[in-house]
Formats: sequence, structure tokens, C-alpha cells
Amino acid sequence: MNTPQHVAIIMDGNGRWAQRRGQMRTTGHRMGVEAVREAVRSAGELGIRYLTLFAFSSENWSRPEDEVNDLMGLLKFFVRRDLAELHREGVRVRVIGNRRALKADILSLLAEAEDLTRNNSALELIIAFNYGGRDDIARAARGLVDQVARGELDPQSINEDAISNALDTAGIPDPDLIIRTSGEQRISNFLIWQAAYAEFVFLPCLWPDFGRADFEEAIRQYSCRDRRFGSVAERDLALGS
Ligand code: FPP
Repeated sequence: MNTPQHVAIIMDGNGRWAQRRGQMRTTGHRMGVEAVREAVRSAGELGIRYLTLFAFSSENWSRPEDEVNDLMGLLKFFVRRDLAELHREGVRVRVIGNRRALKADILSLLAEAEDLTRNNSALELIIAFNYGGRDDIARAARGLVDQVARGELDPQSINEDAISNALDTAGIPDPDLIIRTSGEQRISNFLIWQAAYAEFVFLPCLWPDFGRADFEEAIRQYSCRDRRFGSVAERDLALGS
């Protein structure tokens, strides 16, 4: 099977999972953290090198305050509980997103996770937190303009690579496969620059139910795709047609 190097996941459906059981949405997010744990384990076992998880979008601030606080708390809970194990397993943790609105305790935990695991290479776990694709591009543009204003960058040298290298994901290959759970079929401002040639797999399961079999199903669908990157199929090249 053709294994994607970089899988990114839009973890959707925590709220519906909870509502169907007559429980609070926050319970759904809590169960979502357990699914995160399993997804990280599965990614390592399946030979994936980069796993990006959309944990909090820049639009999620519009949710009720309690739910926002709960999601912040769950990130802290996850890092505190699982960091040592992730480090033991050789996972490198990296966080993308806008850090300006995050509180000091979260920032220091994220920095601790990144520093501790900096030299690990079994799997790179990229947590997208307070992340928005447009915000990523806008911040990258500001950074490039600042360099131009300081006379450090020739505007004529701004090409696609320069923009990629100014994004939060600098140095990380673009995602090969983007999975979204819960049956919704949209990108919701996730990795919009980086997803230019990604394959999309939409699964009906709600995120807390996402397990190893679902991960394998997404990779199975991915490996049936013919990725052409704007070119023609190899078969057609060989036929000269
Ligand atoms: C979407 O479900 C999910 C989120 C907005 C947050 C995802 C967060 C987690 C899985 C937990 C925290 C993650 C880490 C890495 C510790 P939804 O609430 O939009 O579900 P709904 O569409 O059914 O309402």
C-alpha cells in the first residue's frame, strides 16, 4: 500500500458524538483527546512521518466561553499527561498557529513540549492550535514585507518557496492526505496553501470514534488515487498519448 508521508486531520464531530448520547459537548472533546492518542499511535505504526491535527481553529473563539476554556484545558491536559510518553516513543511535537492570543501557561507548556522533543524523529506530531490558513498566509506576508522594508529581501525573489518557508509549516512537507471525519466535506480554513495537491478523504465516523480501522481505510482510499500534480498519468506518458 502507498503510505502518505504527511497526513493532516480535521477532527470533526465531537459535539455530535456527545449530543447523540445526551451528554455535554465538552464530554465529546474529552473523548476526542483519547482518539488523538490512538491516532498518534496508529500513525507511528503505519509508517507516517508527519501527522497534523486541527485542534483549535482561529474561528473557534466564537464558541461559548466555557467550551473555549475547555478546549484550552484539554490541550494542557494532553501535553501534561502524554508528553513523557510521546518523548519516549520518539515523537517530535511541533505547534502551528497564532500564539499571540494564547495565555502564558499554554505558551510555556507548548514551548516545553517543543524543546523536549526537538531531536526526536520517529514521527512529527504537528498540533494546529489557534490556527487558520488565511491567518497563516497573512502573517507570512507581513513577515516578508518586514524583511523587504529592512532591505533584507528583494521583492523579486518572493516566489512560492519563499512563501512556503514563511508559513508556520516551514520545513514540513505539504500534506499528502487530509482526512475529515463526521461526514462534512470542506476544508474550513485548514492548511489552505499547503493543501494545493493534497488528496481528501471524508469519513462518516465522528472523531471520538476514529480508530485504527478508520485510519487504515483512509490510507486505503488514498493509495487508490492517481496523483498527477497537474501532469498526466504515468500510464498515458508511457503510451505517448
Ligand atoms: C470539532 O468538533 C472538534 C474541535 C473543534 C476540537 C478538536 C479537539 C480535540 C479533539 C481535543 C483537543 C485536542 C488535542 C490535540 C489535545 P465539533 O465540536 O465541531 O463537533 P460538531 O461539529 O459535532 O459540533
